[in-house]
Amino acid sequence: MNNDLDQIRDEALTRVATAEGLDALEAVRVALLGKKGSISGLMKSLGGMAPEDRKAAGQAFNALKAQVADAIEAAKERLADADLEARLMSEKVDVTLPVREQAKGFVHPISQTMDEVTAILGEMGFIVAEGPNIEEDWYNFTALNIPPEHPARQEHDTFYLPGEKNGHRMVLRTHTSPVQIRTMQNAEPPLRIIAPGRTYRCDYDATHSPMFHQVEGLVVDKASHFGHLKGCLIEFCRAFFDVDDLPVRFRPSYFPFTEPSAEVDIGCTREGGAFRIGHGDDWLEILGCGMVNPKVLENCGIDATEYQGFAFGMGIERLAMLKYGIPDLRTFYESDLRWLRHFGFSALDVPSMVGGIG
Ligand code: DAH
Repeated sequence: MNNDLDQIRDEALTRVATAEGLDALEAVRVALLGKKGSISGLMKSLGGMAPEDRKAAGQAFNALKAQVADAIEAAKERLADADLEARLMSEKVDVTLPVREQAKGFVHPISQTMDEVTAILGEMGFIVAEGPNIEEDWYNFTALNIPPEHPARQEHDTFYLPGEKNGHRMVLRTHTSPVQIRTMQNAEPPLRIIAPGRTYRCDYDATHSPMFHQVEGLVVDKASHFGHLKGCLIEFCRAFFDVDDLPVRFRPSYFPFTEPSAEVDIGCTREGGAFRIGHGDDWLEILGCGMVNPKVLENCGIDATEYQGFAFGMGIERLAMLKYGIPDLRTFYESDLRWLRHFGFSALDVPSMVGGIG
């Protein structure tokens, strides 16, 4: 009996030791310890033994089974290690290979321009404020001194949403000016904010798109006057267009939410068909501004006898087109990669205030 068992053990351990690969080892395991395996068969034979032999045989069989199971476990580990080793050898990285070219992303000129505007005004102490794209009529118009019957409403080519709220239809904001109202309602002066963001008007041609971008600016405190407004915007224009002595002109204008109001022109030349910003005898309008209308302050619960301030608003696309020579506004939204490669910016080259310092 013992000799038989020794032989079975030797055979089993040899089969385990010589199994080549994890699959072969698994087949050996099934053949020995599986339900119909030879060692399992030994266990079953216990039932037919004389009771006095059964205990010793049972112990011997169990010891054999445990020894074979241990050997299988050890072999498994050895084979798995060998497998891994083989894989690591075959998957070695050749660091001398030339690098594969990476598809580089570009910063869209709109993002770039927003970042530049934000960076310049950020340095002057403005902080960024935000408001919703879907706006209440009151914030977009009424609070800005554009009551329902006001002609300015018609000029805005507004997108109205279906349904009503507070007796009015919601609108896609036609400008970033409603952020002024939200800011004045939610914070105490002194205020110095800019609100970059998307705006919407039902209009489409080479210089208009139904969705476009603006940056709004607002200063409210006890002392800011038209001189500060001029200083701030002259400084901004010169920094943005990178022309130290850029001529800047304030032309009287009208906006319901500012009084007095002005439009800002910068000097340019169109001599010989080439357009250049800087010196020349031509002017180009780039933004609107004015002293915050006292009615607007009062609409926001700010005492207009104590506080005053100024506001301005500009179109990002227009600024980008002028600075980077982009002729057609519609190309901003066509997602043409060749266009983006030409007009876009490398994310690593430009410091960005909106996306963190690059
Ligand atoms: N909201 C105006 C527009 O969309 C731009 C504007 C003009 C904003 C004058 C202002 C401002 O804050 O003072 O045309």
